[in-house]
Amino acid sequence: MRTTVGIVGAGPAGLLLARLLHRAGIDSVVLESRDRSYVEQRQRAGILEQGTVDVLRAAGAGERMDREGLRHDGIELRYDRRRHRVDFPALTGGRSVMVYAQTEVCKDLIALQLKEGGPLLFEAEALAVEGADTDSPRVRFRHEGRESVLECDYVVGCDGFWGVARKAIPAGLTRTFERTYPFAWLGILADVPPSHDELVYARHDRGFALLSMRSPSVSRLYLQVPEGTDAEQWSDEEIWQELQYRFETADGWRLERGPITQKSVTPMRSYVHEPMRHGRLFLAGDAAHIVPPTGAKGLNLAVGDVVTFARALVHLRETGSAERLDAYSQTCLRRVWQAERFSYDMTTMLHRAPDATPFDDGLQLARLDRIASSRAAATDLAEGYTGFPLD
Ligand code: FAD
Ligand code: DHB
Repeated sequence: MRTTVGIVGAGPAGLLLARLLHRAGIDSVVLESRDRSYVEQRQRAGILEQGTVDVLRAAGAGERMDREGLRHDGIELRYDRRRHRVDFPALTGGRSVMVYAQTEVCKDLIALQLKEGGPLLFEAEALAVEGADTDSPRVRFRHEGRESVLECDYVVGCDGFWGVARKAIPAGLTRTFERTYPFAWLGILADVPPSHDELVYARHDRGFALLSMRSPSVSRLYLQVPEGTDAEQWSDEEIWQELQYRFETADGWRLERGPITQKSVTPMRSYVHEPMRHGRLFLAGDAAHIVPPTGAKGLNLAVGDVVTFARALVHLRETGSAERLDAYSQTCLRRVWQAERFSYDMTTMLHRAPDATPFDDGLQLARLDRIASSRAAATDLAEGYTGFPLD
């Protein structure tokens, strides 16, 4: 089997890359280790930045998003039983975000790929990327019980944090940067209309809580829990009670309850792998970097990487210049580190560490108060949340 771009992984990064290349007339093959329904059902991110929305539209993948997605012009910060709204368009010259789940983005891209694009193989597990520093890199993979080789001009590792592509870069050439956090998120899906029409990020002495949504009738809520928590340790009643405590306001706001249909725990990590390229192997999305979810950046960063790669490859084809492809790692890492910073700031401003001192609490409240009282501080948050520009 031979293709121009071998793509490992059919998460948002791999699927969007295949779509962008198809639109540019460049062929690709996508290898995904899991089955289609697993990829389509895996509950993860929910917020698309303005730039991501624009890219999906331009790729002809925005039709259902525009019909069913919910445009959000702000978020609410809640602390000290008070609420403060951050108005995105007013602070950023018109930018906003879209609530449209990763599951739905993946469903839309899979349907388009299967209908119009090149091969997308499910249950095809990449075993190794070989020859990254040669002119003909290969992906060795297993599909339908047989081992095969995909010969490529380029390989893009979009296989997430636990994938194999990153391992093809010699350890002596790489640097990794990592931070773990002593807490995790317990996330639920519930069949109840969202109790607020925008996302609510709450800082509380008992820990962080987030109110989000999937549709006008389905809520998505998160609670900060200790690292290593098992979701089954929490009964539905305990979850609702804890959410109620953390969202409580002096003005009597009420959290509506409903049947919980899913519960899971997400660990928190910051991670950057440098460089994001070795020869003809490129890393994109979670394969190269992880952010804690508080800034809603993971999916959007994955989109940024593959847009940068696709544009660089098109540039090479149109002009003969590999300059942009050669700058891939640098271009992406600038944006990645901005997202790392933003996600770290949001996480440390809103979560309560197990060893937090009264001084730490005071600083958190001061940071929140600053955003509530200074247009400059609020603008910094709004620009970060709605997203840094794509190159
Ligand atoms: P992934 O979505 O991880 O896709 C990688 C794909 O590669 C997977 O389909 C995997 O099956 C496949 N793969 C792996 N190994 C191989 C192999 N050897 N061969 C073939 N295929 C392989 N972000 C937010 O913004 N908000 C959130 O609430 C949020 N929640 C999250 C919860 C969890 C549990 C996780 C893990 C992430 C969450 N994220 C969240 C981050 C966001 O979902 C990711 O940043 C986003 O999925 C990155 O997309 P990706 O395509 O790079 O990687
Ligand atoms: C969602 C997840 C996030 O990490 C976030 O910051 C906002 C929303 C969500 O799943 O809806």
